[in-house]
Amino acid sequence: MPAPASYDAIILGAGGAGLMCAAIAGQRGRRVLLLDHAPEPGRKILISGGGRCNFTNVGAGPANYLSANPHFARSALARYTPQDFLALVEKHRIAWHEKTLGQLFCDGSARQIVAMLLDESAAGGVTLRCETAVDGIDHADGRFRVTASGTTAEAPALVIATGGPSIPKLGATGFAYDLARRFGLKVVEPRPALVPLTLGGEEALFRTLSGVAAPVEARCGGASFREAALFTHKGMSGPAILQVSSYWKRGQAVAIDFLPQEGSGWLREAKRQRPRVRLPSLLGERLPARLADTLAERLGVPAELGNAPDRLLEEAERRLADWRFMPNGSEGFAKAEVTAGGISTADLSSRTMEARKVPGLYAIGEAVDVTGWLGGYNFQWAWASGVAAGQAI
Ligand code: FDA
Repeated sequence: MPAPASYDAIILGAGGAGLMCAAIAGQRGRRVLLLDHAPEPGRKILISGGGRCNFTNVGAGPANYLSANPHFARSALARYTPQDFLALVEKHRIAWHEKTLGQLFCDGSARQIVAMLLDESAAGGVTLRCETAVDGIDHADGRFRVTASGTTAEAPALVIATGGPSIPKLGATGFAYDLARRFGLKVVEPRPALVPLTLGGEEALFRTLSGVAAPVEARCGGASFREAALFTHKGMSGPAILQVSSYWKRGQAVAIDFLPQEGSGWLREAKRQRPRVRLPSLLGERLPARLADTLAERLGVPAELGNAPDRLLEEAERRLADWRFMPNGSEGFAKAEVTAGGISTADLSSRTMEARKVPGLYAIGEAVDVTGWLGGYNFQWAWASGVAAGQAI
């Protein structure tokens, strides 16, 4: 048996977090082995942002993340900011633009971000092996020995960067959790996040609106987002719904304000000014016609506003501002953009991402119980946590 190849660090998973961690550590002179079972690195980067990769959000801060410990992400995010990543993007002459709500995208292709990270890794002399499945991991005398696709390597540091199980058809797995548990780390129950919600029962009627979108305010679990909601043939999606889905738990309602721009009393005011107007037409001036008709039908307001008692209009206004949907589920990991939950932050150092109980073991990126909002926040966490570990290993 040949002696195992020796490295300073072995990183499992060549997604955004693993590539960034490898590049930083390599450029600090560390000998790094980066392994991935997929045929190419950074597959989620390639499909992200509709192929243009929403690579960060200029406003990213701890308040944009969900975690059992909301303070955990603070240190890494403060030490590697969206501006730091942008500086790297500009160093590589990648053209970019701000789309909306602070979201930064490539003008060209997400491929440029992967190429940039590969260049940075190559500059650090990182050894990258794709299509390499991990067969076994041993830990003894402060060294990790990884057997993968028939070869063995060992190092004093092992980084778990294998992400979460969302979109399994891209090679996503729950491997990170199994490995973490094996080393005695706790795992916060993983659940699909940034995921479409499904409607059943009486609310299944809304599925006939499939394809209709409207700007709304969606609220759930103490969070609220003003973005577009989209009805689908299974229920609801669109940015506003994806955002609240991360906060949604089974049995909870999602509240939608269909007219967040309208002030209190607007319907009674409309009755005073335009008594002959019909509710579907009035709503249709503000919302897509099919949605306006469906909502008006359910509000039980007489045809012309002038014939409706104020009490009924107040009730209609209240419902339009706080329409309760009871999702019967989500479209699951198959459609979830990220996984919420994951390796417990209670077991990790927020400065270095090292496991408190297992010196030399690190966890970064989506594998950890830190989940960002939609809009470039998840990549910012991948970069920031990757840098934090890359500077420590
Ligand atoms: P990631 O999942 O990227 O990488 C993990 C790597 O580990 C993969 O390469 C995988 O093959 C490998 N791996 C898994 N199991 C393994 C095993 N057992 N052995 C070896 N290797 C293994 N975020 C954002 O900020 N802006 C955006 O525009 C988007 N868009 C977007 C679109 C879609 C369709 C999805 C699914 C997700 C997004 N995201 C996003 C989320 C973002 O892609 C995600 O948060 C990061 O990719 C997480 O990076 P990681 O490196 O932690 O995991």
